[in-house]
Amino acid sequence: MRVILLGAPGAGKGTQAQFIKDEFSIPQISTGDMLRAAVKAGTPLGLEAKKVMDAGGLVSDDIILGLVKERIAQDDCANGFLFDGFPRTIPQAQALVDQDVNIDFVVEIDVDDEEIIERLSGRRVHPSSGRVYHVKHNPPKVEGKDDETGDELVQRDDDKEATVRKRLQVYQEQTRPLVDFYKKIADSGEPNAPTYVRVAGVGGVED
Ligand code: AP5
Ligand code: ZN
Repeated sequence: MRVILLGAPGAGKGTQAQFIKDEFSIPQISTGDMLRAAVKAGTPLGLEAKKVMDAGGLVSDDIILGLVKERIAQDDCANGFLFDGFPRTIPQAQALVDQDVNIDFVVEIDVDDEEIIERLSGRRVHPSSGRVYHVKHNPPKVEGKDDETGDELVQRDDDKEATVRKRLQVYQEQTRPLVDFYKKIADSGEPNAPTYVRVAGVGGVED
């Protein structure tokens, strides 16, 4: 099964991905996590990406498409995968169509901007696993520590309010158009068209 999780920064893509990937035994492919790993490793790509990410912008389609192409060719993707944070622009989505990467479900998570700012300001992450917490809504068992490894949790560099507002603006301009892009394909009735599902990303993490 191949799934795309679509939604604004902080909508809960990473949080819901944890449930979906376990339920369907498919790997989570988070382009954001892949870029943060490159930043941490200090690779040339990471250094380039860090500037863009810290400013709340989008990394170039070429770089992202290269990363994704390599990732989905790996053995663990044979039975499908869950895209979290990809595609994020029309050219990225079009590249999947052009490469005949058929998608079964597009799941849009819808949350309003003020809720997002509150969520991202309280977010804490475990970088190496991608596990996501919130100081109030989804706290770890021990404050500041990852549940499984006990490692220190960190705050993302791009979770400052000004950067979050910029990311929301970029989402509206460049990513939101994917809603219509996928609805149109879903409604086309073509045999390989994905099913489009929209969920309200409110309520508790497990609702
Ligand atoms: P990325 O890592 O993808 O960031 P994002 O899309 O901005 O999304 P977030 O990870 O911030 O939010 P999320 O929806 O995963 O929410 P989460 O589950 O963590 O990308 C980062 C950057 O990399 C981009 O800005 C860009 O520069 C670059 N990039 C990445 N992919 C790219 C691409 N394809 N093309 C170009 N550039 C790319 O939840 C947020 C918080 O809310 C958490 O604290 C969580 O505990 C809490 N929460 C979740 N659900 C609930 C709930 N139901 N109730 C209460 N709290 C909740
Ligand atoms: Zn995320």
